[in-house]
Formats: sequence, C-alpha cells, structure tokens
Amino acid sequence: MDDPPRSSEPPSGAGAAANAGPDLTVLVVDDEPGNVASLERIFQREGLRVLTADGPRRALELVRKHRVQVVLTDLMMPGASGVELLRALQEISPDTEVVVMTAYGTVEVAVQAMREGAYDFVEKPLERRAIVKSVRKAAERQRLVVENRSLRQELALLSPREIVGQSAALRRVLEVATQAAPSSATVLVLGESGTGKELIARYIHARSQRSAGPFVAVNCAAIPESILEAELFGHEKGAFTGAVGRREGRFARARGGTLFLDEIGELAPAVQVKLLRVLQEGEYEPIGGQTTRADVRIVAATNRDLAAEVETGRFREDLFYRLDVISVTAPPLRTRREDIPLLVDHFLGVYCKKNSRARLEVPPEVLQRLCDHPWPGNVRELENVMERAAVLCRGAALSLEDLPEAVARAVAPAVAAPSFPIGTPLDEIERTMIRVTLEHTRGDKPLAAQLLGISTRTIYRKLGEE
Ligand SMILES: Nc1ncnc2c1ncn2[C@@H]1O[C@H](COP(=O)(O)OP(=O)(O)OP(=O)(O)O)[C@@H](O)[C@H]1O
Ligand SMILES: [Mg+2]
Repeated sequence: MDDPPRSSEPPSGAGAAANAGPDLTVLVVDDEPGNVASLERIFQREGLRVLTADGPRRALELVRKHRVQVVLTDLMMPGASGVELLRALQEISPDTEVVVMTAYGTVEVAVQAMREGAYDFVEKPLERRAIVKSVRKAAERQRLVVENRSLRQELALLSPREIVGQSAALRRVLEVATQAAPSSATVLVLGESGTGKELIARYIHARSQRSAGPFVAVNCAAIPESILEAELFGHEKGAFTGAVGRREGRFARARGGTLFLDEIGELAPAVQVKLLRVLQEGEYEPIGGQTTRADVRIVAATNRDLAAEVETGRFREDLFYRLDVISVTAPPLRTRREDIPLLVDHFLGVYCKKNSRARLEVPPEVLQRLCDHPWPGNVRELENVMERAAVLCRGAALSLEDLPEAVARAVAPAVAAPSFPIGTPLDEIERTMIRVTLEHTRGDKPLAAQLLGISTRTIYRKLGEE
C-alpha cells in the first residue's frame, strides 16, 4: 500500500468533508494490521471517524453498535469471507454502503461482491486517492439513499408489487392467502427458490388487519447464528460484553405489523427453541430485559421440505406444527406455463421503462422458446432474463440472441406430467412414466433411461419390447 503522505496536507476536498459531516463513520475491515493502520491514518486525515475490525465477526459487532455509513472491507479473510460479511450487513444494516478491496487479478471475486450489493471495489495495492474518492462517493450515495427511503416506503405502500398470473395453480394459492390474511394465524409459505414466496407474504400483510403496521423481513440464513437471537429479540444495555446501548429487535420493530421469517429452514436449534416459545406463549424476553408481549403476525417461508427436515431431526417437530397452521405452496413456474407470456409482458414493461426504451416486441418463436424453458430458477430467473434482454437487445423486437444461451437453446417441448389416482398399480405407473419420458426425449431411449435413472435395457423390458 502507498505510504500515506507525511506532510500536513489539508484534507482533500475540504468542502466535501464539511458536507459529509464530521459524523461520517467508515469501518475498515482487514486481517492485516498494517493495512488497517495506514487506512485508519488516511481517513482520519480526511476528517472521518474511523472504526477498525480484524474480521467479519468484529465488524458486525461494531455495525450493530455504531452508525456506520461505509464499510471498506478486504475480501479474503480467515473465518468468513467478505462476501458473507456483505450478506450479513445487508440484513443488519441495509443502509450501510460497502466498498471491497481486492487483490490484483481477482476481479471476478469483486464482480461477485458487486452482484451481492457492494457499491464499489478498489484494487490492491491501494492508492490513496482512489480509496478516498470511492469511500466519499459511497458515503454520498448512502446519504441520498437514506434521504429517499421514507419517500420510497410511501411509494411502495401506494403500489405494492403486483402478483402477475392467471393459472389455476396460482389462483388457488392466492385464494388461500386471501382467506388467511385477515386472521392472525401463522402462515407458512413453501416453494422453490424464486417462486414468489416473499411476494405472497407481502400480499398477506397488505390484506391483513395489520396492513397499516410495518412489514419486517428477516432472512434467517443471512444472519450469523451468534447474533440472530439478539437481532430477533433485541437486548438491553449491558446485557452482554459489548452491548453498549439498548437495541430493539425485529419482533419489536414489527410491532402492530407482520414479521416475515424468511429461510426459516436454516434456523439453528437454539433459536428454534426461542421462537417456539414466542409462538406458544405470545411473549419473549430481549436479552437481559423484561418479558414483552409479541404483537406480531408471523409469516414464515422456506424452500426446504420442512416436513422432511423434521423427519431427519434438523427441524423441531413442535415448532413445525406451530408454524404450519396454514400453509401455501408457491407453484414452480414450469407447472404453470400459461403464466409465462403474462410474466414476460409484465417484466418487459417494467424493464423497458426502467431503461427508457420503447417496449420490445416478442416474436412468436421467441415467446415459444420462453414458454418451453424449464425455468429452474422460476420467476426470479425469468425476471432476470427479461431485464438482461431489455438492456442488451439492439432492435425493436427480442431475438433468440438476446436470451442467455441456456434459454435460447431449444429444448424438447414440455410434456404434461401425468397424475395417478390412489391405487394405481406400480407397474402401470412405471410404464406410463417411461412412455411420457420417451415422448419428452422424442423417442431417445438412452436419454430417457438416464432421466429415469434406469438402464436402457430396463426400458425395453418394461415396455415388453425385449
Ligand atoms: N407472480 C409474480 N408476478 C410478478 N413478479 C413475481 C411473481 N412471482 C415472483 N415475482 C418476482 O420474482 C422475484 C422473486 O420473488 P420472491 O423474492 O418473492 O421469491 P422467493 O420465493 O422469495 O425466492 P427465494 O426463495 O429465492 O427467496 C421478485 O422480484 C418478485 O417480485
Ligand atoms: Mg425469498
């Protein structure tokens, strides 16, 4: 790293420093003490308040105690990676901007960090001017984001994200959600990744008697186990070493509203016990504090098969039953292909507008390809593909070249999955599955055998062709 200049050079951009205010705090995270010390000197010289941490754990402790506008972090540290730190930060302090430091030649990691929400990256060896500039820009953005937040919240309330789709499967889910919404019953939203579980949770909140209250989301997978309890229930001043102030937990913040516990399947056993208690008794204790009534409605979501997790002992059975009062399963996109054209139209509208361009046409062969794709990432994947197309497409109409390779490649037309009444003999089910799979592979027996996990010979045998 450049040695910071020893002269009594005035802080660069003194006006900007005044603007950013003396209470602009930057947190430097790096496991190399030398780096930390010189960065500390650089930022102090700029008139900023500097906090330092030798790793993600300490960094998260500090962020929970202090208002930190910008985190400047190394990406490669023992323990947790910088990317994990980023995810945890987004949960705990979503307004904090992150600038990552990367070693020369590891730009892919930096790109991943940017995808995970980092604001900027600077390459090592660090150059003083570049870091100061990047951190100042991050701080400015942080200020604007916070300023705009209340406005955005109002807007979000005015236009909650629409749930697009007309399929019977989706309509059934929304019917149950609509019925469940006005009650105070706990709702468990199941479904694969990207199927719209969070959207459904918001839909329930918006139609509940608590709609005027807050909707608070907690991603149980992104918050490290060691601080999840304090994060959920809060703590009193002095409750544990380092608890310098009192801190409100998510349960308290969601008072009068809905607490959305996302990725509930990832909850550690110790926290499962605590949550069970809230669901049973309707009250909880902040760490070191008084028993408090929990005035929240809980909606939980997971893409795991919770019943199976109970079987294997990874998820508490009693908690499962408390959560599973009313459950809805968001259907995978491949089982409701009739919604694909509507979603394509919806997302193209959104992203063409966002990119200030005229709405793109979708020729029939492109739409057909989109309808045939299996969409393992569900609506989220489709949304990303449409956003990408709205950015990349050069013409007035979408072409196959504007789609990612995996989507553009032709796949066999979808064959409807058969369903069997109870009591269907197994060998009949087998024969039907083999026939349907063969239709799907257009008669390619080795491929069908591979898909079914059996040998090609078995296919011949079962079909009586041997
Ligand atoms: N029916 C729908 N209509 C419009 N947008 C949708 C629909 N379903 C999902 N989306 C959009 O797709 C994206 C993913 O949805 P969401 O975050 O609710 O999914 P999820 O099931 O919670 O996914 P994950 O398990 O990955 O967290 C969001 O941007 C959401 O707005
Ligand atoms: Mg989600």
